[in-house]
Amino acid sequence: MNILLTGGTGYIGSHTAVVLAQAGHKVILFDNLCNSSNEVVGRLEKIVGKKIDFAEGDVRDTALLIEVMRTHQIEAVIHFAGLKAVGQSVADPILYFANNVQGTISLLQAMQQLQIKTFIFSSSATVYGEPVYLPYDEVHPTKPINPYGDSKLQVEIILRDLAQSDAQWKIACLRYFNPVGAHDSGLIGDDPNGIPGNLMPYLSRVAAGTLKYLNVFGKDYDTRDGTGERDYIHVVDLAEGHMAALDFLNKHAGLHVVNLGTGKPASVLECVRAFEKACGKPLPIEFAPRRDGDLPIYYAKADLAKQLFGWTAQRSLDKMCESAWYFEQMHNK
Ligand SMILES: NC(=O)c1ccc[n+]([C@@H]2O[C@H](COP(=O)([O-])OP(=O)(O)OC[C@H]3O[C@@H](n4cnc5c(N)ncnc54)[C@H](O)[C@@H]3O)[C@@H](O)[C@H]2O)c1
Repeated sequence: MNILLTGGTGYIGSHTAVVLAQAGHKVILFDNLCNSSNEVVGRLEKIVGKKIDFAEGDVRDTALLIEVMRTHQIEAVIHFAGLKAVGQSVADPILYFANNVQGTISLLQAMQQLQIKTFIFSSSATVYGEPVYLPYDEVHPTKPINPYGDSKLQVEIILRDLAQSDAQWKIACLRYFNPVGAHDSGLIGDDPNGIPGNLMPYLSRVAAGTLKYLNVFGKDYDTRDGTGERDYIHVVDLAEGHMAALDFLNKHAGLHVVNLGTGKPASVLECVRAFEKACGKPLPIEFAPRRDGDLPIYYAKADLAKQLFGWTAQRSLDKMCESAWYFEQMHNK
């Protein structure tokens, strides 16, 4: 299939591009490079051994999207493009609604004009909010606790109404848990600008010596070892989940809301230990007070993805850390 990946040069988009291209699909990346670099295109070409098409542009530019989709005879769209920093969304909610919600509306308008009706959306476990019960299954109430989560839920609502209005649409809303790790080549991975807000890239930089120690926020949560627990998922497993979802959509119309996680949470200290094993040295940590808005624990019920897509995450926490560390070393040579 000819597949447009908006946000295709970003972290998850680039890994998905590899999986799809290696399976014989033609991927076209569309990105405004606000949080990635076009160097990723060359790296992807190195990994897959063939040319990858890239168009620079903003998803809010409907006319450009129509032109790109027409030129490449696009048959399906995976929509990764979006802003994802929770703190920034609290400070500037309009930016998040303009980019994430308006951007998706523009993309859907372009698709509608060209009668392209197969769509996968990057949603997030943040749509659930404070757990009423765990693990979160897909029918757990949705009550996001920040504008980033609100922007994802608003798009999900739009997609629900769209699927109800026209039975030909084939839509998957994939609610990702915590993607980490990198491709085995070490050529692509999670490479945030500035000081990382997420655990794994932070640990990479502590291991590399560019950051002195890891702050562990909270040590007295009601969890196995007192530190926060999350459902970390290897980004290549996540990428494979998209291909499985696409195969499913090719046979099933309608809207499908599905968690992509492992179903097995890991604590901050377990991640530190696994990363120490991967890099072969102790990593300094300091305990700090809990951060406002951090949940003690959340993780996915991952059964629906298995049932519908025949997909389950395969890669261990050790593998996540090893690949993240290899990427860090390759990247900062
Ligand atoms: N990484 C996570 O922890 C996580 C978890 C849940 C959901 N998600 C969602 O998955 C998607 C991909 O996340 P990621 O981690 O790869 O992030 P990322 O920032 O690495 O990738 C997103 C890409 O979208 C591009 N982009 C942003 N706004 C754009 C616009 N208006 N037009 C065109 N391109 C635009 C950025 O330049 C970037 O390359 C996002 O929608 C994010 O909200 C991510």
